[in-house]
Order: sequence, then C-alpha cells, then structure tokens
Amino acid sequence: MVEIIKGLQDVIALETHISYIDGENGILRYRGIDINDLVNLPYDSVSYLLLKGSLPDVTELATFSKKLKDERVINENLIQAIRTCNFNIEAMDALRTVVSHMSHCDPDLNDNSHDANIRKSTKLISRFPTIVASFSRIKNGYEPLMPDTNLSHGANFLYMLNGEKPEKTVTEIMEKDFILIAEHELNASTFSTRITASTLSDLYSAIISGLGTLKGPLHGGARMAVMNMLDEVDSSDDAEQYVMDLIENHQKIMGFGHRVYKTYDPRSNIYKGLAKKLAEEKSDTTLYEIAERIENTVIRELVEKRNKPIYPNADFYSGVIYKYLGLHPKLATSVFAIGRVSGWIAHCLEQYSDNKLIRPRARSV
Ligand code: CMC
Repeated sequence: MVEIIKGLQDVIALETHISYIDGENGILRYRGIDINDLVNLPYDSVSYLLLKGSLPDVTELATFSKKLKDERVINENLIQAIRTCNFNIEAMDALRTVVSHMSHCDPDLNDNSHDANIRKSTKLISRFPTIVASFSRIKNGYEPLMPDTNLSHGANFLYMLNGEKPEKTVTEIMEKDFILIAEHELNASTFSTRITASTLSDLYSAIISGLGTLKGPLHGGARMAVMNMLDEVDSSDDAEQYVMDLIENHQKIMGFGHRVYKTYDPRSNIYKGLAKKLAEEKSDTTLYEIAERIENTVIRELVEKRNKPIYPNADFYSGVIYKYLGLHPKLATSVFAIGRVSGWIAHCLEQYSDNKLIRPRARSV
C-alpha cells in the first residue's frame, strides 16, 4: 500500500529553477537571489528575472519595461465586460472573468509556441493592474482611466485606481508588495497553473486556474480576511483579548501559519518594516500597534506556550499595509494576483519546456 500524504504535505512533486524556500531558516530566493535583495529592485526587473532566468541589464530592462507599458491599455470590449459585472463580487472574480474575455480576442490564444507565450505573458502582466483598477473605478461610479506610461508598474496601478499620482513612499511600497508576492515555489495556485499547463492547454486557461485557486482564504484570500479581522479590533488592548478568544474557540488567526515556514516568513519581516514606515509617515500608528499586539499575542500563546510554529505569513502585515493604502478588502486578493502573475507564467513556461502530464492517482475506497 502506498502511503497517502494528505494535502501532499512535504511531497516533492517536481524540480524547478525558479525559486527556493528553506522553511526551517526562513530563506526565500528567486532564481538564486535572496528576497531581501530583490525587494529593492523595480518590479519589472524581478518579473524579467522570473520569466527569463537572469536579471536584465539596463538596455534589456528598458526594452522589457517599454513592452509592458505599451500593453497596459484594455480595449472597449473588456471595459464593457467589466460594466456587466455584479459589483458585490470581489475584484478577483471580475479579474478571472475579464482574463477569460481577454483570451477570446487574442489571435495567439491556442498557439503554445514559446514566442506566442511570451507575447501573452506581456499582455497578462501589463493588463492585470488595468483590469483591477478599472473594475474598482466603475464599481465606485467613476470612469476608468488610461494608463500612464511614465509611471512604474506599482505607481501606474495606484494612479489608475485613485486618479492621482501616488507619493514616493506609497509607490515604493506598492512595487515591493508586487515583488514580495511574485513567486513562491509550488504554492497551491502555482501548482494549479502547472497542472493546467501540463495538459498542454493554453496560458490564459492556466492563469485562470491560478486565479481560482488563489482566491481561497487558506491562500491569497487570507489577505482580505486579515483586513476584515483588523476592522473588528478597536485598540491594541482589545487585540490581545480578540486573539485569546479565537484560540479558545479553536479558530485560526488569519495571516498566520504556513505549510512550509516553521519560523518567520522572510516576506513577513519585510512587510512589517514597510507597514511601520507607512504608519509613521502617516502619523497614525494605531493600526500598526494593533497588528503588532496581535502578532505578539499569537507568538506568546501558540509558539512559546504551545510550541506550534504559527508565525505571521506574507498576508498579515501586507493586509495592514493595504488598509493604510486605503484599499478596499474586496480588492486585496486581486492585488496579490497582480504581483503573482509573473511567477505563475514563469512556472507555466518551465512546465511547457519539459512537459509531463500531471496526473496522480487516488485510492478507491
Ligand atoms: N491560527 C491558529 N492555529 C493555526 C493557524 C492559525 N493561523 N494555522 C495553523 N494552525 C494550527 C492548526 O489549528 C493545527 O493545529 P493542530 O495540529 O493542533 O490541529 C496546526 O496549526 C496545523 O495547521 P494546518 O491548518 O493543518 O496546517 P497546514 O499546513 O495544512 O495549513 C495554512 C497552512 C496556511 C493553511 C494554515 O496555517 C492557515 O489556515 N492559516 C490561516 C490562513 C492564512 O493565513 N493563509 C495564508 C497562507 S500563506 C500565504 C498565502 O498562501 O497566501
């Protein structure tokens, strides 16, 4: 009898050149480069690194960034598709639908050659922010804006969302968020994209599989759950009791715990520093203090007293940051997807380049 490992925990399903995680020591690298170094680059450089395997030189970056900027606009058909959405849904649901519409208009849809997949990649990476921002504007009664090609990936997204050019710190933080979340080895949504790609289905279909998987609250949806949780706590004193109640009721604290990390998630440490910086710049540290009190209580109660490795993950302090940025919770998972799409595409390209259908077995009982 072959042992069944529930949730495929710790199962090595494939080899990848794209990223490396050491869950015991809290290390994350994309293509051999530590996340603490990557976070200081522009998102376009990190996206290039994921797709092509090495960092771009100045000319390569300029060419790649220009291609991305040139593809940011979405056509009127896609705007119309957004207008037909039910606006009570999350932006994530709209994104999934509009990406599907986008595929219908692409002559490369069923061309799985490397060149066609690179053309589709450029469109997907460039247009995710446009789709999310346009959905949010239409939902709030505004017209969507044309992208600004003078702005970086992060700054342009915030501009299209809010209608004004963001300040320097806010822009930097948006870019860093996209980088921190761009890639994470064989997480559930990336695995989904690879499964779809392994059937030799098209890149759009693979990305739509990833979107569906990312949405769940045990994965990218945790970011929205963290924002909702923070709304329920009024002060750092309340935060301690709030956590104690959750633990007593055997409920999970959203934004904590991880399948792979058994110590601090290195992304979480970076997010925490950025949340503090934003709080101080806005001269409003209340939310940050609430978050820190939640963290300290979880560490004391679960790590120190119960010896469980439940540390903040990438969704905890990023949820705090999104609240400082004034993002609506129903946007949170789609903003995660804007960053992650580069990693998904890198994995699909890796899958197509050395394909074997992913098809495990189940024991019939
Ligand atoms: N709060 C309290 N207890 C927890 C938590 C938490 N957030 N996470 C895990 N545990 C406990 C869990 O109750 C279980 O305890 P016991 O062994 O006594 O039954 C033990 O830790 C193992 O938990 P598990 O859910 O079986 O572990 P897993 O590896 O299957 O799940 C996880 C990992 C991320 C789904 C889980 O930690 C969780 O549900 N966290 C909350 C949701 C969340 O923040 N998700 C984001 C994940 S990371 C970034 C991303 O993918 O977006």
